[in-house]
Amino acid sequence: MVSHTEFDRHTTATTVAQAFDDNIRDKTVVIVGVSPKSLGESMTTALAAHSPSLLILASRTRAKIEKVVSEVKSKHADLRIENVELDLSSLDSIRKGAEQINSLAKQIDILINNAAVVTSSHEFTQDGLELQFGTNHIGPFLLTNLLIPKLLASAQKSSPGSTRVVNVTSLGHVISPIRFSDHKFQKRPEDIPSDERPMSRPGVSFDPPPGETYVPFVAYGQSKTANILLSLYLNQHLSDAGVQSIATHPGSIWTDLSRNLDEKHLAMIENTSTFWKDIDQGSATTLVAALDPKLNDPKVIFLNDCQVAEPAEWASNANAAERLWKLSEEIVGQKFELSPSNRL
Ligand SMILES: NC(=O)c1ccc[n+]([C@@H]2O[C@H](COP(=O)([O-])OP(=O)(O)OC[C@H]3O[C@@H](n4cnc5c(N)ncnc54)[C@H](OP(=O)(O)O)[C@@H]3O)[C@@H](O)[C@H]2O)c1
Repeated sequence: MVSHTEFDRHTTATTVAQAFDDNIRDKTVVIVGVSPKSLGESMTTALAAHSPSLLILASRTRAKIEKVVSEVKSKHADLRIENVELDLSSLDSIRKGAEQINSLAKQIDILINNAAVVTSSHEFTQDGLELQFGTNHIGPFLLTNLLIPKLLASAQKSSPGSTRVVNVTSLGHVISPIRFSDHKFQKRPEDIPSDERPMSRPGVSFDPPPGETYVPFVAYGQSKTANILLSLYLNQHLSDAGVQSIATHPGSIWTDLSRNLDEKHLAMIENTSTFWKDIDQGSATTLVAALDPKLNDPKVIFLNDCQVAEPAEWASNANAAERLWKLSEEIVGQKFELSPSNRL
């Protein structure tokens, strides 16, 4: 299914970019979530070496984006690279950021929704959403929809399926389905439908302590399931227009992602993997999803270790994808019709 069956968990983004050099040259790429020592930085560095026509880096902290830009510019002085400050935890900020991106790009060939947060405590966005669901799903949902006309502009001129939306998810999605009746975590698991409850297996419980409703990794898991369902929905509704979406698990990499975790949750993360990638390896799967011309099959929605993989059932369920789309439209207060008559 992929062009390079030999790519695996050791493969680097640098190698992937080299292998698909022709698919980067003259392309416009938007990378969301970029700061020093993050996966966003390593994907920027790998792509910058192969002459894209425009790289747009969109992220929360301008000073951090600028550090990455100046590092890249020191090696590729002629590269056109723009930065856009936007906060995915604010609908207002996303709308302003999208406007700026739309004014910079005539078309978008590759959109990489890579930004995310992990928290240990029950926090909310400016718009009153649970912080991880709001930032990791609702933010990219709104941003992607506001950029769709530019993705379609690319698809009209490109070979089918080569215009890509990559949603960086996590194997952590196996912890939770979408809690349609309680996405803000205000109820205990026994008070929500059984098919919305988190994974549990002997010896592993994701239930909150008595009297509480919030479990940080369940909330992260819900947001990461949403990333895959977004790819599924986009493929069902935009593949005939030439846009392909794929969600990727990057692997386990020590980045700033754990910056908000307390000691207890950090210790839990330490036990989740026996193989830790560096950031160059951690961006390889995402670049395969963005660049491999063979991955133009709308049935492909998930990659792990640079190969096609199967997500959990609740992340590959078309009804759940449809319900999530509608819920997300309600939350952002805007409908996005993807039918052909509404395009362009
Ligand atoms: N690292 C891992 O082991 C691992 C495993 C599985 C999945 N992932 C996924 O990989 C992706 C990248 O994570 P990472 O490890 O590179 O983490 P990271 O170093 O924390 O990078 C996350 C990026 O997202 C940005 N960001 C956070 N909140 C934002 C907001 N509200 N608005 C706009 N941008 C925001 C951050 O900007 P600031 O620095 O300015 O806050 C940063 O540039 C995430 O989707 C994560 O879920 C990572």
